[in-house]
Amino acid sequence: MSTFKAPKGTYDLIPPESAKYLAVREAIAAPLRNSGYGYIETPGFENVELFARGVGESTDIVTKEMYAFETKGGDQLALRPEGTASVLRAALEANLHKAGNLPVKLWYSGSYYRYERPQKGRYRHFSQVGAEAIGAEDPALDAELIILADQAYRSLGLRDFRILLNSLGDQECRPVYRAALQDFLRGLDLDEDTLRRAEINPLRVLDDKRDDVQKQLVGAPLLRDYLCDACKAYHEEVRELITEAGVAFEDDPKLVRGLDYYTRTTFEFVHDGLGSQSAVGGGGRYDGLSEMLGGPALPSVGWALGVDRTVLALEAEGVSLELPAATSVFAVSLGEEARRVLFAKVTELRKLGVAADFSYGAKGLKGAMKNANRSGARYTVVAGERDLAEGVVQLKDMESGEQVAVGVNEIVAELETRLG
Ligand code: HAM
Repeated sequence: MSTFKAPKGTYDLIPPESAKYLAVREAIAAPLRNSGYGYIETPGFENVELFARGVGESTDIVTKEMYAFETKGGDQLALRPEGTASVLRAALEANLHKAGNLPVKLWYSGSYYRYERPQKGRYRHFSQVGAEAIGAEDPALDAELIILADQAYRSLGLRDFRILLNSLGDQECRPVYRAALQDFLRGLDLDEDTLRRAEINPLRVLDDKRDDVQKQLVGAPLLRDYLCDACKAYHEEVRELITEAGVAFEDDPKLVRGLDYYTRTTFEFVHDGLGSQSAVGGGGRYDGLSEMLGGPALPSVGWALGVDRTVLALEAEGVSLELPAATSVFAVSLGEEARRVLFAKVTELRKLGVAADFSYGAKGLKGAMKNANRSGARYTVVAGERDLAEGVVQLKDMESGEQVAVGVNEIVAELETRLG
C-alpha cells in the first residue's frame, strides 16, 4: 500500500464491484436512449456564478457544499455540484432550442461534487445519470420522465422504492403561499438561524429534520391548498398520466427539494433500505431557470438518479445483477510454440466478439489454472508441445470439469458453437 489514500468522502470503483456501477449507469440510460434523449457531456467545472444563480444563492449546495476556487488566471470556478444548470447552459450556448425541435431531450452521466459531511450513501464525489427535457410545458413530459425512471429501477430488479410527488406551484401562486408560510413561521419558537431561513427561503424550513421543529410545523399551511387553477390542473394531469401508466406514487405535500429552481412538478425516489440518505433520485420542473440564466423562456423538466445510492439500494434488497461474464475463454499455454498458437487463437476469438483472456507471464500450469479459475471463464483451452504435435488443444469445461481434445483448426468454431 502506498502512503496515499482516496480523499475523505470519496471511494474507488474496483473490479469486480465496478461492473455493477457500469451496469446501473447502462440500465438507467437505456430507457432514455429509447425515448428520444440524446447524450450530452459538459465540463466537470463551470463558472461559479452559474450554480449560484441556477441552484440558488441561499441553498446549502451553494453556501456550504460547493468546491469553488479561483484559477491562476483569476476565473471563479466551481466543480459541478449537479447537472441541470450545466446542461441548460450548454443547450442555450449551442442554441439547441432554436433548432425548432422542442423539447430538446438530453441525458448525461458523470461525476458531481459536494462538500458534504460524508456518511453511508453521502459522498463528496458521487455519480449521477440524469435527463433534461428542455422547452416544453406538457404534463405528459413530466409523466414520461417519472415513468422512465421507474422503468429503469424496475429493469434493475429494484422493488422497495417509492415515488414521492408534489407540486411547488408557479410565479403566480407560490408567492402567496410563501407569504402565508412566513406568517406562520414567524409565530413559532425557532432559533435565529431558522428564523433567518424563514425570511430568505421559508419552504426550506419545511424540510428541517429536527423533531422539535417538525412538531411545530404541524398545521403549517400547505402549498397544495394555495395552488392556482392552472397549477392544480397541470398537477392533476401528471398524476393521472402516471397512474394510467401503472406507476404507483405517493402525494407528499411537504416535499421540498434542495435546489431553488423548481416550479410545479417535483418528485423524489426514496428507498427504504438506505437509512437517512434514502433519496436515490429526484427531479422536477424548472420553468424559470432558463430566464434566470439569461436565456429565453424555456419551461423544462428533468431528473437525476444517484448511481452510488442505487447500487446501495440493490445491495439492501439483495438483488444481484446478471452481469455478463468478463471472460468466457481463458487460454493456458505450456511452452513457446503453444504460446504463439494460443495467443493467435485468443486474438481470433476476440475479433469474433468472444471475451477471451490469456495466461501472461512465466507461470507453471498450476498458477496458470488458478488464473483461469479466477477469471470466471466458462472454458479453458490448454495446450503443450505434445498436444500440438498431435494437432489438438485441450478444451476444459470449467463448470462440469469435463475435458476433451479438439483439433487446433476447429477450436475457435467449437468455442463459438458452445458459447452460442
Ligand atoms: P439532487 O436531488 O440534488 O438533484 O440529486 C439527485 C440524486 O443524486 C440524489 O437523489 C442522490 O441519489 C444523488 N446524490 C446527491 N448528492 C449526493 C451525495 N453527496 N452522495 C451520493 N449521492 C448523492 C439534482 O442534482 C438535480 N440536478 C436533479 C434534477 C435534474 N432536477 C431536474 N433535473
